[in-house]
Amino acid sequence: MVWILSAITLLLASVVSADSSSISIPAKSSPPASASTVLARNFLSFSVEFAFWADFAGNKSHPNEFSNNLFANLRAESGGEPIIRIGGNTQDHVTYVADQEQGIINIFNYAYNLDQPQNSSIGPKFWESFNTLDGLQYIFGLNFYKNDSTYAENLRNEVSQSIKQIPADKLHLFEIGNENDYGALSGFRPPDWTQYDYVSEWHNRSRLLEMVNEKRLRFFAPSFCCFNISTNYSFFSPRTVWNSSFGYDRDRWINEVSQHGYISSTSLPNTLQGTLMNHTGVEVGIANFISLNDFHRANGRTFTIGETNSISGQGAFNVSDVFGAALWEIDYSLLIAANNISRIHLHQGTSYRYGSWQPIEVNGTGPLTKPAYYGNVFVARFLGNSGDTQIANFPLEGEHNVAYAAYDGGKLARLAFLNMLEYNGTSQGTRPTTCFSFEAPKGCGSAKLTRLTAPMATSNDTITFGGYAYDYKYAKGKPVKLFEANERISPQKGAFNVEVGASEAVIISLD
Ligand SMILES: *[C@@H]1O[C@H](CO)[C@@H](O)[C@H](O)[C@H]1NC(C)=O
Ligand SMILES: *[C@@H]1O[C@H](CO)[C@@H](O)[C@H](O)[C@H]1NC(C)=O
Ligand SMILES: *[C@@H]1O[C@H](CO)[C@@H](O)[C@H](O)[C@H]1NC(C)=O
Ligand SMILES: *[C@@H]1O[C@H](CO)[C@@H](O)[C@H](O)[C@H]1NC(C)=O
Ligand SMILES: *[C@@H]1O[C@H](CO)[C@@H](O)[C@H](O)[C@H]1NC(C)=O
Ligand SMILES: *[C@@H]1O[C@H](CO)[C@@H](O)[C@H](O)[C@H]1NC(C)=O
Ligand SMILES: *[C@@H]1O[C@H](CO)[C@@H](O)[C@H](O)[C@H]1NC(C)=O
Ligand SMILES: *[C@@H]1O[C@H](CO)[C@@H](O)[C@H](O)[C@H]1NC(C)=O
Ligand SMILES: *[C@@H]1O[C@H](CO)[C@@H](O)[C@H](O)[C@H]1NC(C)=O
Ligand SMILES: *[C@@H]1O[C@H](CO)[C@@H](O)[C@H](O)[C@H]1NC(C)=O
Ligand SMILES: *[C@@H]1O[C@H](CO)[C@@H](O)[C@H](O)[C@H]1NC(C)=O
Ligand SMILES: *[C@@H]1O[C@H](CO)[C@@H](O)[C@H](O)[C@H]1NC(C)=O
Repeated sequence: MVWILSAITLLLASVVSADSSSISIPAKSSPPASASTVLARNFLSFSVEFAFWADFAGNKSHPNEFSNNLFANLRAESGGEPIIRIGGNTQDHVTYVADQEQGIINIFNYAYNLDQPQNSSIGPKFWESFNTLDGLQYIFGLNFYKNDSTYAENLRNEVSQSIKQIPADKLHLFEIGNENDYGALSGFRPPDWTQYDYVSEWHNRSRLLEMVNEKRLRFFAPSFCCFNISTNYSFFSPRTVWNSSFGYDRDRWINEVSQHGYISSTSLPNTLQGTLMNHTGVEVGIANFISLNDFHRANGRTFTIGETNSISGQGAFNVSDVFGAALWEIDYSLLIAANNISRIHLHQGTSYRYGSWQPIEVNGTGPLTKPAYYGNVFVARFLGNSGDTQIANFPLEGEHNVAYAAYDGGKLARLAFLNMLEYNGTSQGTRPTTCFSFEAPKGCGSAKLTRLTAPMATSNDTITFGGYAYDYKYAKGKPVKLFEANERISPQKGAFNVEVGASEAVIISLD
């Protein structure tokens, strides 16, 4: 149903009918005071579980063309090289074996974990995977937990192979350990292990590595999982570790701060509408990141979200792996960007539910472009490639309707509207819509509308963005036009009115 109403009526009428509501967005032609600072082109970056990096990148004899295409699509939108952090739980269970022929051997123990190997061994050919994909930079995740007599040799080998085999301009930083604030609780350190012990160990390892092959190393740290972990003996917090009493960065080798976090966990009950398609949930979920970012900025440090995604534990079935999760990913990424956080790394693993793609065949399924990838493309398109983009969020009532504006060079260039009401398909009747309305900037005669849609919130395929699909089955992830969308809109009485169906998102690009 298309409602053509004047801007004045829209301001007065908040609900037009049972299944169609209207919202006026106060977007002006220049950025509001709440707008972000200028965003980096690599804001949208990724993290790949260490043990699965070879699945994503392939190797010299079998480069992964699909991953290369998907990254190329994002680069074409953003004009920047994403930074890929190779790490996660499995990085702390890696042993370097100099004479191993295979790049990586993963040893699974399903009693330990269904989704990740318990241990991995890597040989020199592991690093072939850093030379198979175009236009990426890397953060290499080193093993912190190994504490037997060969731990130092293991670290030095990981570093020297990285320096030898990853081109210098692609090697962004090293990370020593993943979520080690959980070390005592997970049993990889004794129960009486304290934050002082952690700092001492981290510091000793960084000194061991600071100069390898005459290359100075710089680090990404502390990559903690949590906010305040209390044990009987210690308190771990991503804030207190910076207290001068710890001397954590006494050598000034930590170039970027990394904190992990997820919106929920598979140990909790999750629903698509309540957990993901919920703007209030996104606001609550990122509040800790915002306060930590403020804390680090005030102390002159660059803060990043070094590993994140929807639901920890590799994502929830039928929640993290369906179209509604793509809408969540858009809202989550954009709200983080609007709050001046420098970069996010969306975590990936071969068969992870929340993954943006499954890079190889597993048990007869895949490779697959997954719904979350459509969220990534939408975000990259919205942030654009001007290199001078600021974004702003407009707080709206309720949990479903969401609006952002992007300004290039201080001028309104794009708007993004999301309708996160869960739509389950035609059995639910006509798709409800929200009409978003905003004042047309002076001299703006028309705009292009690019719609991200799918038959329903739980769809896991048949997703299109402006008529294009990125599925593996069409062209191994290259964009393929499925229908001519080319939607254009013109202002009515000075305002643009845009209908967004339940479980849809749109970008409006002003001419
Ligand atoms: C390269 O990848 C292919 C396909 O996964 C694999 O069969 C082969 O063993 C890998 N080569 C090395 C040296 O690991
Ligand atoms: C992984 O390594 C640990 C420590 O060396 C060992 O106890 C465990 O048996 C190994 N697991 C597998 C599946 O190889
Ligand atoms: C290594 O850590 C394990 C797990 O906490 C602990 O039992 C062991 O004593 C440690 N070994 C050394 C050499 O520190
Ligand atoms: C770190 O090195 C110092 C100096 O060698 C040593 O006193 C300290 O015990 C080490 N810390 C750990 C946790 O091994
Ligand atoms: C625990 O974390 C919160 C942020 O989630 C912070 O505001 C609070 O001060 C922390 N508590 C302590 C004791 O550090
Ligand atoms: C803390 O102490 C209590 C009682 O002494 C014990 O039951 C519990 O396991 C301890 N917790 C940890 C994390 O060590
Ligand atoms: C922070 O450092 C100060 C002194 O430098 C000390 O008094 C305080 O206890 C420290 N706080 C924490 C949480 O370690
Ligand atoms: C949306 O998230 C908020 C904050 O976490 C929560 O209070 C609310 O119940 C959620 N909505 C639904 C429908 O579950
Ligand atoms: C996910 O949804 C599909 C189709 O609706 C259903 O067959 C499957 O059992 C669900 N899986 C889980 C783990 O809930
Ligand atoms: C693949 O199949 C095996 C055997 O049925 C099963 O144990 C494993 O969990 C499956 N892996 C994935 C990622 O589905
Ligand atoms: C859509 O389906 C979910 C369960 O999958 C249900 O909780 C929700 O109420 C349905 N929404 C509508 C509008 O029918
Ligand atoms: C979509 O979900 C269905 C039901 O869970 C499953 O059978 C199918 O393989 C999935 N398709 C894709 C492309 O993920």
